[in-house]
Amino acid sequence: MKRKVLEANLRYYENEGWQRISSSNRRQMAAHLRQLIELIELPAGTCVMDVGTGAGFALSLMRRHLRGYSTLLGADISYKMLQCAKGNEKEATFVQVEGERLPIESETCGAVFFVSVLHHVYAPLDTLVAESARILCVKGYLVIAQEPNRFVNGALNYFRKLLGLWPAEETTMAEYHQFKTNGIPIRSLIARLEQFDFDVLKIHYTNAALADELENKLGGWARVFNFFLLHLQNPLCSLSYSLVAQKRTSRNQ
Ligand SMILES: C[S@@+](CC[C@H](N)C(=O)[O-])C[C@H]1O[C@@H](n2cnc3c(N)ncnc32)[C@H](O)[C@@H]1O
Repeated sequence: MKRKVLEANLRYYENEGWQRISSSNRRQMAAHLRQLIELIELPAGTCVMDVGTGAGFALSLMRRHLRGYSTLLGADISYKMLQCAKGNEKEATFVQVEGERLPIESETCGAVFFVSVLHHVYAPLDTLVAESARILCVKGYLVIAQEPNRFVNGALNYFRKLLGLWPAEETTMAEYHQFKTNGIPIRSLIARLEQFDFDVLKIHYTNAALADELENKLGGWARVFNFFLLHLQNPLCSLSYSLVAQKRTSRNQ
């Protein structure tokens, strides 16, 4: 299962995925992520790791928040995505690796980000959380953003199936992952985080990614829908959820 998911991701992001991610407008998603980043207080010189960095979206926001007093690192499996990231974020360092084996010493990072990533690497969830816990300092922050809300996605997928709007191609599985799994249930993600000694500080429900997609497709007209969509921030009406957690103790003690 793990290999299959990894290969599907690579196939997708090395082909059409990198163009889609690097060229799309993410205005609402940036506003949403900034709200989460506001919760992060890091001492100068701290290292920040963005896993599945794509085109370096979270690192750009983090650089502005920290005003340059930090080492920014991005990891991704896709060479093409990393090429885009290098073009966008000149000050950051990028490595081509799988998120579950990060080439960083234990307890050296102040923050680890997974933005729109965990549901793409669904199979080894425990390994990814364990690896984040390993590299984070005590009191370090874990930001998991834009995960599909299983309840809403499950309901939408039910109607998609009824209407025959189901993606047929196995090759686009990476991008359609939540169609098959409906997303990671928030309760089981929180339970896992607690097992790895994380305290969840904040949970946000959002339709920001959908609002961006509408803006990309409809231009200014999208504002009419987005006004309502962006006010729907609860488990019953939001397509995604995000959370910020903080590492409680050292596992190396
Ligand atoms: C939806 S994109 C999100 C990119 C970026 N975080 C953003 O928000 O723009 C998912 C990214 O995760 C990367 N990815 C998928 N599986 C991965 C893995 N096992 N390890 C590291 N990166 C992975 C993909 O190559 C892709 O760049």
